[in-house]
Amino acid sequence: MRAEIRAAVDNVLESQQFIMGPPVRELEAEFAALVGCRFAFGCASGSDALLLALMALGLESGDEVITAPFTFVATAGSIARLKAKPVFVDIDPETYNLDAKLLESAITRRTRAIIPVHLFGLAAEMETISQIAHAHRLPVIEDAAQSVSARCIDSHHQDNRVGNIGEFGCFSFFPSKNLGGAGDGGMITTNNPQYAERLAVLRDHGSRKKYQYDLLGMNSRLDSLQAAILRVKLKYLEEFTESRRKNAERYRKGFARVGLERYITLPVEPEGWKHVYNQFVIRTLERDHLRDCLRARGIPTELYYPSPLHLQPAFSYLGYRQGAFPCAEDASQHVLALPIFPRMTKEQQDLVVDAIAECLAGQA
Ligand SMILES: Cc1ncc(COP(=O)(O)O)c(C=O)c1O
Repeated sequence: MRAEIRAAVDNVLESQQFIMGPPVRELEAEFAALVGCRFAFGCASGSDALLLALMALGLESGDEVITAPFTFVATAGSIARLKAKPVFVDIDPETYNLDAKLLESAITRRTRAIIPVHLFGLAAEMETISQIAHAHRLPVIEDAAQSVSARCIDSHHQDNRVGNIGEFGCFSFFPSKNLGGAGDGGMITTNNPQYAERLAVLRDHGSRKKYQYDLLGMNSRLDSLQAAILRVKLKYLEEFTESRRKNAERYRKGFARVGLERYITLPVEPEGWKHVYNQFVIRTLERDHLRDCLRARGIPTELYYPSPLHLQPAFSYLGYRQGAFPCAEDASQHVLALPIFPRMTKEQQDLVVDAIAECLAGQA
């Protein structure tokens, strides 16, 4: 993509329109079409996308927002930044996403929104979550930072795209995401014209007219340079997503070949859904040994996430204790993300699979 990206960057430099230039509008239109939403607004990061969505809802101090504790810090951080209270609900141990069965019991008179996270590239259980949200008249903000282009099927066989199910979809263009920029960036999607109008204003200092501030907003715009680069990368998104999905399939076959299925748990992908494998996360009781052993062989892995948010010092004021969310706590001890980048070769994947087999051989 180098030549195309360089040409796109040159165009922005020539135009000198670094803030809200044409590539931003063009990317917003293309992204809205990708997600199937009426509106999309670029912003400075996925973290700001969440913050802006909550601001558009008019979240106030003391309001409660329900989310999962097994996620990146920004999901709950955006709630806390507005002096609202993150209320955690444990995850499903198989999908790592918010356990929809536990959602209703966390709703109180102060609940103002629900933020399910589509973790690792797999959509959350949106049908049940949406039904509960609807029954309680609560808006849903989808944290789709890791799941651009993911889909899920509901019980009516309806194919749903993430970011187009709740009131808002929040996406991240952090470089390691499936649609990654050359720096920070984010996007918010919505179908609601009132929310859309607020988002457009809130990300631009709360200003509808120059030097007139109707709302307390912030400076959170997507740079024209990032938008121009992302527009090039967007053309390749489906191809890259398919490569990730193919790599996931190859891992499954590889682990079956070496008979490792009994010792490691592989990611689930419900029938007909589209997991986009931002991460390929396995689970094993020997996680720490395996990670060290792979590192010694030059194979990088990552821990998403070594500690759930309710046990992080920044959220200690919420008063949660060890044991509050057993599935999130257990996952944090046993998950391991393997390399799954789109251009990974079969030989590289076989190397990883064989190394895991060797590392675990002495442990079984
Ligand atoms: C689940 C989740 N939510 C929010 C974010 C925040 O996105 P950003 O890094 O673009 O601020 C990320 C990514 O880092 C994420 O993985």
